[in-house]
Amino acid sequence: MPDYIDTLNSHYGARDLMTRIFSALESTGADVDNLTIDSLGPMEELHVGGRMATLELGRLAQIDENTQVIDVGCGIGGPARTLAHHFGCRVTGVDLTEEFCRAAETLTKKTGLSDRVDIHF
Ligand SMILES: C[S@@+](CC[C@H](N)C(=O)[O-])C[C@H]1O[C@@H](n2cnc3c(N)ncnc32)[C@H](O)[C@@H]1O
Repeated sequence: MPDYIDTLNSHYGARDLMTRIFSALESTGADVDNLTIDSLGPMEELHVGGRMATLELGRLAQIDENTQVIDVGCGIGGPARTLAHHFGCRVTGVDLTEEFCRAAETLTKKTGLSDRVDIHF
């Protein structure tokens, strides 16, 4: 298992990920001190179908403010924040890539969703 975790962190882990994310956001004109999930846009949903697919799955699963979701392999937390923001649910995100978890926590705080989204490494 540790080999798998090392391999995963080498594959996905990126040094200074938050610096790179903030720099990319600033280049789009976003105010990094006042982030919304809309200002993060498509860059935070790293899966086929992006945010539209996350919202469609949320609707199909009938997620609402009483639902507790676990997002295994949450990455930088985009889908977790999307579900919490749009459906009012609570989400626990889990990932094995440490740098992604740190970025997920930072972006969740900056978008004001820490009361509904927890990230665990
Ligand atoms: C393609 S990314 C998708 C991230 C996120 N779900 C999204 O859609 O934006 C896949 C993620 O799965 C994580 N992952 C892979 N295997 C895992 C495992 N066994 N347990 C937890 N996370 C895992 C990786 O670290 C990576 O962050």
